[in-house]
Amino acid sequence: MPKRTGLFIAFEGGEGCGKSTQARLLYNELQRHDVPALLTHEPGGTPLGDRIRKILKVKLDFNIGPKTELLLFAACRAQLIKDVILPALDKGTHVMCDRFSGSTLAYQGYGRGLDLDLIESINNAATGGLQPDMIFLLDIKPETGLRRKHNTDSDRFETEDIAFHRRVREGYLELSRRDPGRWTMLDADRPAETLAKTVFDLVYPILNKAVP
Ligand code: TYD
Repeated sequence: MPKRTGLFIAFEGGEGCGKSTQARLLYNELQRHDVPALLTHEPGGTPLGDRIRKILKVKLDFNIGPKTELLLFAACRAQLIKDVILPALDKGTHVMCDRFSGSTLAYQGYGRGLDLDLIESINNAATGGLQPDMIFLLDIKPETGLRRKHNTDSDRFETEDIAFHRRVREGYLELSRRDPGRWTMLDADRPAETLAKTVFDLVYPILNKAVP
């Protein structure tokens, strides 16, 4: 993998946790400080990924098997890394990504029950070993998160039963406990501005070290 100078920050969490808002607020704040930054998301972020995203999200009249789902997310990720994330990091742009490999472990692993080692190896094949330098987990009770999303049309994941969303949450908590150097768990049931300040205060000193 080529030498990277940008910092790679991922935002993770269950439905309605507010991670997209936090990724955007951090991106806006970095721009305000004239720090080179890029905001992207998964699944999607490339023309191919955006098409696969539609298939993965809408309710279909056929079934997508868990392994197929895993591979489709991995395909999106491989393309996003090649076309968007690595070129940005290589030129010193800091990347904020709304969901990354952690989502696959939480949703397809803990949620769907696929073997975690299998997911790790597929993730690894898709990413070429690229991992976020920092991951923010916006932790929220599934009931609260899903209620926040109630006024939008529910997609294939949001309509999973509550037990699925509880497994996803527990999975995320387990992932963050296992790798505290990379993951920061935040209580997402707090005002967006308060969370954004916490995130910025944690990221900014590290950015200053990362930028030569
Ligand atoms: P999206 O609209 O991006 O949801 P959110 O706003 O919650 O991020 O839809 C992405 C959905 O795909 C979301 O329900 C989580 C799921 N997902 C996985 O199951 N595995 C993955 O690897 C990724 C990236 C997302």
